[in-house]
Amino acid sequence: MKVLLVNGSTREKGCTYTALTEVEKILNEENIETEIFHIGTDAVYGCRACGACSKLGKCVLDDVSNKLAEKMQEADGIILGSPVYYASINGSFGAALDKAFYQNSQAYENKIGAAIVSCRRGGAGSSFDRLNKYFTILRMPIASGQYWNAVHGNTPEEVKQDIEGMQQMRDLARSMSWMLNNLKDSKTPEREEKTFFNFIH
Ligand SMILES: Cc1cc2nc3c(=O)[nH]c(=O)nc-3n(C[C@H](O)[C@H](O)[C@H](O)COP(=O)(O)O)c2cc1C
Repeated sequence: MKVLLVNGSTREKGCTYTALTEVEKILNEENIETEIFHIGTDAVYGCRACGACSKLGKCVLDDVSNKLAEKMQEADGIILGSPVYYASINGSFGAALDKAFYQNSQAYENKIGAAIVSCRRGGAGSSFDRLNKYFTILRMPIASGQYWNAVHGNTPEEVKQDIEGMQQMRDLARSMSWMLNNLKDSKTPEREEKTFFNFIH
């Protein structure tokens, strides 16, 4: 089983990365394969809503979102990590996630998701909620910890001093491992075909 940990910061080895490595450490101790995927610093286009991805299976505006989608589809568990920017997630990460999930959204059903955020001081809750929205529209069960997974700090050294935040990361990893191990052979529910209704009346 494999968990993809996505670092949605432009800083490759910053605070979000520091939190993700704490999660990764425990997952590896529990014999779960991991990979940290960094979204990088190149420009990411926002979704144009052109619909081409429904035919091509990928975005025509080729940026990190296509690679991200490929990696997420291979994984059994997905942990999305973002720094907090103005009480939300990093804008380029949001653009990449919108396009990655939209291009083949059914591929994520039943994968375990989890979100973590890193902030200096405030806005963790709204950013955490934003990330969880991707899972809850795609029938992805969510692994949770003992708080709304966040670390506080402006540098990796500060994050390491957030002993409660770091404990949350380890706790979350154990929940993710437990869910992966217990759900892998379970029967999934029968589903109705999705109905669309656009409030046009
Ligand atoms: C554009 C920008 C906006 C930010 N907005 C917030 C914010 O709203 N609340 C906060 O606590 N920290 C804010 N920060 C600080 C980062 O969230 C914080 O330093 C984070 O831990 C950085 O993670 P990273 O090293 O993985 O990028 C902001 C940083 C930047 C660059």
